[in-house]
This record gives sequence, structure tokens and C-alpha cells, in this order.
Amino acid sequence: MAQNGSSPASPAAPRPSRRHTGAAVRRRTRVAVIGGGPAGLLLSHMLHLGGVDSIVVERQTKAHVLSRIRAGVLEEGTVRLLRDVGLGDRMDREGKPHDGTVIAWQDRAPFLIDTHKHTGRKMMAYGQTAITQDLYAAYERRGGELVEGAADVRLHDVTSDSPFVTFTRDGIAHRIDCDVVAGCDGFHGVSRQSIPADVLRTFERAYPFGWLGIMSETPPLDDIIYAQHERGFALASQRSPMLSRYYVQCPIGTDLADWPDDRFWAELKARFPKPLADRIATGPSIEKSIAPLRSFVAEPMRYGRLFLAGDAAHIVPPTGAKGLNLAVSDVFYLQRALVAHFKAGDDRWLDSYSETALRRVWGAERLSWWLTRLLHVFPEQDGFDTRVNQNEFDHLCASPTAQAALAEQYIGLPLET
Ligand code: APR
Ligand code: PHB
Repeated sequence: MAQNGSSPASPAAPRPSRRHTGAAVRRRTRVAVIGGGPAGLLLSHMLHLGGVDSIVVERQTKAHVLSRIRAGVLEEGTVRLLRDVGLGDRMDREGKPHDGTVIAWQDRAPFLIDTHKHTGRKMMAYGQTAITQDLYAAYERRGGELVEGAADVRLHDVTSDSPFVTFTRDGIAHRIDCDVVAGCDGFHGVSRQSIPADVLRTFERAYPFGWLGIMSETPPLDDIIYAQHERGFALASQRSPMLSRYYVQCPIGTDLADWPDDRFWAELKARFPKPLADRIATGPSIEKSIAPLRSFVAEPMRYGRLFLAGDAAHIVPPTGAKGLNLAVSDVFYLQRALVAHFKAGDDRWLDSYSETALRRVWGAERLSWWLTRLLHVFPEQDGFDTRVNQNEFDHLCASPTAQAALAEQYIGLPLET
């Protein structure tokens, strides 16, 4: 990629200027970030720390973005990165470190995927909603530029030296000229769709079930626990000492209206071994929703001057809680590459971004797929599948080598340098 950090068109000041052309409100920045979810906000924050200006363009309102409830388990690498970029204070106060995650298999004694014992590293329970709040707060503190409520966002000329982004807001047309577009607009965004079909390769697995999840203001269990049961998978998780998150596997097409709280709690408890079920504190749900499960990867993650990061490029099923961690690792590689490009004219990392990010993506895809297959009941599952899964779990319990291998993948492989 041509180095144009010093091009006359690039602004020296961090805040781009505005000029009206009559046709559209125009401004310029180095990196136009599409999407103000965790990937886009973190990228913009880290670019700012590296002295590279950006504008974030988000389709929704901030209130809407913050109303989404997503997974809440962080790899140690994610925890370290958030601390390094000044976003660790609230996480360290309110998050809960864990030695690993427990698997409760039928009525057997709980088994810990012991990341601490096998890797010396711990996980952290801290919700994605809280991270997004922290990112918005940091954004507002530094007076970063974020466009909320942008409609009809389109990417233009991304294979040229002068890409630009257009959108409308409150009926007014806008145009952002930039050097690079970062596509951080999630699975349903516009960025991935801007890559021609003959360039983009996609790989997908849809699972024949979803997760029905609730949030309740009740004290959670001490551990994060995956329950494998013949009635289906269940999960006990947590957000704070008085906020619990629980899920049960449900068939595709499940209607929330058929799941009043009493039915949910009864089904959840039926899937945990009795000693654990007896400790689950029930109460009214404050949120209830169903999420489908899907594995998806788009390759390459770069097209000209467009770089994809986070859910825009890949989706993992929530088993393993890798989605946010992957978004963070993409952002780490991308900001490092962009800062080297703009500040040192060094394109080495930009040119290897897609390959490096995808290697890590496929590691998480494999783990999430494997855990999903091991822990869920598939509609077409027969006795053979059940015995193979049983044997896989028996092997895990008996083999310190298998335990160490799983712990290493679960905690997340180190970011490549
Ligand atoms: N233009 C602008 N913004 C858009 C557009 C668009 N056309 N389409 C979508 N967006 C916004 C969405 O409203 C959302 O706020 O992009 C943002 C994408 O955020 P996420 O979907 O949260 O994706 P990402 O930032 O990559 O975060 C990944 O989210 O889904 C979880 O498991 C995943 O935890 C991981 C994290
Ligand atoms: C969650 O807390 O929402 C959660 C935890 C672990 C997972 C998925 C989701 O694997």
C-alpha cells in the first residue's frame, strides 16, 4: 500500500476540518471507522493513542448500542490490552477473575478447565456492555468524533488512494474522505458487502439450535459453568455480585412468549447436577432473549484500503465466549499496522494483517465449534455421536495433556508479534 501519511491531503491536526460543497457536508480523516461497537470504538481509541485521527460512523444511537447484552468472559490477553490502553480501572474494580470455566457433565462432579493451573493465566468475567460503556466514556472524555444515527452508509473507491464514505444524517448528506476505511460494523454491516463476490470467500456453519438467555438480579453461582445434559446445554454466568446471566439451549423457532420465568428456571435447574441446581437463586428476569448460533469467517479481511475487524469478518458461536476477544485481537493487529503505516511509513504489518488476524480467528473458530459440538444435543444426534462425545469428555478428565491443550486454547493464544 502506498504510504501517504505525509500526503498534503492528510490533516496535521487531529480534528478534521469541515467544508460545505453544497452537495454534502465534507470532512477528512485518516481512518474512517464504520461501526461504533466494541471493535470500532477500541480501534479509534487505540489509534488516538498512537497519534492517528479517525471518525467513527455508527448507524444506531449510543443508547441502542449500550442496550445490547452480549457475552462477558475476557481472555487474559484482552484484560492486559484493556489495562494497557487505560481502560482497566472499572474492569479491575467490578470484574471477577476466574481460574477457568467449569463443565458440569450430566450428574458427574464438576470439572474445571483450569487455565490458571495449566497456563498461569486467569479469565475475567466482565460484560461486553460494561466495556462498551467504558469505551464511550473514554471517547467522550477525549472529545472524539462519533457520528450516531448515520443512515445509508456507503463505502466508495476503497481500491483507490482516496477512498471515501458517504451517509445521511437527519436528512443531510455527509462525505468523509480518508486514507483507510476500517469495517467494524458487525455481521450485518455494509463493509463486508463492499468486497466483490469474486474476491470474498466465506465459510459458514449454522447450528440447529439457539440460546435462550435471561438476566436476573440474583446472586450468581461462584463459577462460570457449562452444563452438558441430555435435555440440552445450559450455562450459568455472571455480571456482578447481584446480577446473573443464564442460558438454555433451545430449538430453532422457539417463541419467547412460551418461556415465562418459571418455565426457564425449572428447565435450567433440570440441566444442572442437583447440588449446583439447588444453589441457583431464582428471581424475576430483567431481560430475556434468544440468540442463534453460527460459525462464519470471511476471507480476506482486507480489500484495497478497506480492513475488516470483529464481527464484520467473523462470527463464533458463544460457547467459549470468543467473539469479543477476537474483535480485540483484530483491533490490536490493525491499530499496530495503521500506526506503523502513518507514523513510520512501514507497511509490513498492514500487508500481513489479514493473514495474521485470520490465523487467530480460525483458532477461535475451531475451539468454539469443538465446544459447541461437545456440549450441545443436536437434533440429528444418534447413539454413536453421544458415545463419541462421552468418550471425548472421559479422555479430557483422564488426560492432563488434553486438559492443558484445552486450557491453552480457552485462555486464548498469545497475540503474535
Ligand atoms: N453503518 C454504520 N454502523 C453500522 C452499520 C452500518 N451500515 N451496520 C452496523 N453498524 C454498527 C452496529 O449498529 C454496531 O453498533 O456496527 C456496530 C457493530 O458492533 P458489533 O456488532 O458489536 O460488532 P463488533 O464491534 O465487531 O464487536 C464484536 O460483538 O457480537 C459480539 O461476539 C461479538 O463480542 C463480539 C463483539
Ligand atoms: C456470558 O456471560 O454471557 C457468557 C459466558 C460464557 C460464554 C458465553 C456467554 O461462553
